[in-house]
Amino acid sequence: MPNYKASISSKLPDTSTSIFAVMSKLAHEEKAINLSQGYPDFPSSPELINLVSEAMKQGYNQYAPMPGIYSLREVISEKITSMYGTVYHPETEITVTAGATQAIFTIITAMIQQDDEVIIFAPAYDCYIPSIRLNGGKAIEIELQAPDYRVDWKAVKDTISNKTKMIILNTPHNPTGTVLSKDDMIALESLIKDTNIIVLSDEVYEHLIYDGLEHQSIARFPGLAERSFLVASFGKTFHNTGWKMGYCAGPSALMEEFRKVHQYNVFSVNHPIQKALSVYLKNKENYLVLPEFFQKKRDLFLNAIKDSKFVFKPSSGTYFQLLNYANLSEENDLELAKKWTREMKLASIPISMFYSGLIDNKALRFCFAKSDDTLLRGAEILNKIE
Ligand SMILES: Cc1ncc(COP(=O)(O)O)c(C=O)c1O
Repeated sequence: MPNYKASISSKLPDTSTSIFAVMSKLAHEEKAINLSQGYPDFPSSPELINLVSEAMKQGYNQYAPMPGIYSLREVISEKITSMYGTVYHPETEITVTAGATQAIFTIITAMIQQDDEVIIFAPAYDCYIPSIRLNGGKAIEIELQAPDYRVDWKAVKDTISNKTKMIILNTPHNPTGTVLSKDDMIALESLIKDTNIIVLSDEVYEHLIYDGLEHQSIARFPGLAERSFLVASFGKTFHNTGWKMGYCAGPSALMEEFRKVHQYNVFSVNHPIQKALSVYLKNKENYLVLPEFFQKKRDLFLNAIKDSKFVFKPSSGTYFQLLNYANLSEENDLELAKKWTREMKLASIPISMFYSGLIDNKALRFCFAKSDDTLLRGAEILNKIE
């Protein structure tokens, strides 16, 4: 093929393959235990799989309605109200999406115009900045300070300008495993109450929260809910990230704009899976068991490495655990993550990749959504590192 590249002016010149793909590929090539990318290595529920297959057999194989099937939107609405209080009308305030990533891209595309500023907290999940840039916006990063990674609301106040259009929240937080408190949410609510700032609240790990903590969804705070998009992921909740299913909820005026983009982006998403989820989601146990299920995995992993030289605070949410290796090596986190994948046969994610300035706090992220055996084998390797 002739090299066409010379004539292409990239819209994302600084973007390369995501670190998740890089580390998973390396783990595969090196036959390493893969605690890098955030997905479970155990199966999705057989009941849910049966429901999908039944829906296919029953003929739900053509386009679903643009915003999602009504019965699924109805049960999503009931779930949000029962957990967080706010009522989202299924007709006008909820849209089913192809995972959270599509919801996030669609929200940003619908809302962000040339030179609008979007405040994000770094380390930040990797899809926010490219989505903002592609839409002509400017991401303004506020650093969460290690080792606690809390939000400095004074810094947020000082960063807000008349160009600030959006603030992106993520709680429970990937990659640090921290969760926002009620006071954090109240601080945000009062900071933006007299502005036109809207909030994109990425809550994909809403059900993965530990030690008796409660998830502080924007839907618990009327002053935030009225100006926010709430984003959720069935992939994260029901152990099937490969299905790419999620949803977005928000007040009707915001949702109307969201759907204008959604209908020309994907139009509608997987019909048989929507049918299956509309049944499976009715049983609250299916998501209420998750804190206990994942906390056991976190504790198994942390207990197994308690005598290692790594320094850590138990993750409060998500299925990620940060381990600080400053006692073990001065090496750059990216180089070390690659080296340990090749030499120790254990893959992780370097945290510097979640900052545009590649800040290296000597921390690696390990995913504990893995079978107990995988976690114990991973821990055994970590214990050997001196
Ligand atoms: C914070 C956060 N938001 C969004 C996503 C994307 O979710 P989905 O797979 O549903 O697109 C992820 C996936 O890792 C994530 O960690």
